[in-house]
Amino acid sequence: MTAASPRRPETIAVTAGRPTAAPGEPLNVPLVLASNFRAGTPDAPVTEYSRDGGTATWHALEAAVGALEGGIAAAFASGMGAATALLDLVPVGARVVVPTDSYSGVRALLFDGAALGRWNVDQVDITDTAATVAAVAGAGSDSSRRPADLLWLESPTNPLIDVADLTALCRAGREAGALVVVDNTFATPLGQQPLTLGADLVLHSATKFIGGHSASRDMAARLVRRRQLAGATPGALEAFLALRGLRTLPVRLARAQESAGVLAARLLEHPAVERVRYPGLADDPGHALAAQQMNGFGAMLSFEVSGAAAADAVCRALRVVTNATSLGGVESTIERRAKLAGQEHIPPGLLRFSVGVEHVEDLWDDLSAALAAG
Ligand SMILES: Cc1ncc(COP(=O)(O)O)c(C=O)c1O
Repeated sequence: MTAASPRRPETIAVTAGRPTAAPGEPLNVPLVLASNFRAGTPDAPVTEYSRDGGTATWHALEAAVGALEGGIAAAFASGMGAATALLDLVPVGARVVVPTDSYSGVRALLFDGAALGRWNVDQVDITDTAATVAAVAGAGSDSSRRPADLLWLESPTNPLIDVADLTALCRAGREAGALVVVDNTFATPLGQQPLTLGADLVLHSATKFIGGHSASRDMAARLVRRRQLAGATPGALEAFLALRGLRTLPVRLARAQESAGVLAARLLEHPAVERVRYPGLADDPGHALAAQQMNGFGAMLSFEVSGAAAADAVCRALRVVTNATSLGGVESTIERRAKLAGQEHIPPGLLRFSVGVEHVEDLWDDLSAALAAG
């Protein structure tokens, strides 16, 4: 008999976190709605209350996300709940380095905390590896600067689709003694595994491609403690649905990512489109790095038309693609991100496009008709 060969991510997504394979057992974890459990004994302690130790439903989701990311996962009520727990790990007065382009909610959370005097935030262009490494090390003209305590990374970024050199930046973070977090929402664990590139923590938004929150073992225990104390626990149904969604991530992502490549190439040739950002395009500034550190190029892209009015007109004219803020669903969604507060660095005519699993030719017919009308 030979040892079983390691399973591939597509299989892990379907099989990890399943209940014991015994006759009569459900194939997938049931929805555990209970919060209160019969007490154990000193010799055989058990989780007696869901907020303290979770339920079988959370554990199944955490097992699957953790297996895909190569770490230990802890599910939270939302991505922002997870981000808050993570920020609870840095001491008051910490120095935080964050990308200028990254998810607006996390940036708002960081700047609100800075305004309250909890930490200091420095922004960096994470496509400039040397400048980011220097900022993390605390170099610069300001003599009060010191090494970062927390390095927040996102790649590809929301919404400019910038790609960061995660290996180099995680190394710089480690050398500075900083906690390194990578928001992996856009790439998904099938596209990129930041823990293997040197990150301490990986974050996902549950309502996007998958749900969960992964970390090394020690970090996971600290995060679970924050979850327990702050109460940012996932609902049973939400955890159940996130796991059910995760089971089909490989096929959804494969289809969406293939279509994203086709649409990015066609948008590039369209006369109404001034710029396309998709790391799968050979001329994209992030292409070489993404080809090295990612498996595939993801299903998120952005493109620019002549200005805010033209971009809004495109959004209004689309019929298959929906003008909506979230991303990573089976349905394609598009949004003009500069309309949000705190997004002043984004060109007014930039549209962030989350490619879904509809037929690629229906998506292109819809896009080209909307671009002609816009
Ligand atoms: C990249 C990214 N990270 C984090 C979040 C926050 O996650 P949630 O909305 O689940 O709180 C979002 C939400 O849009 C996101 O796009």
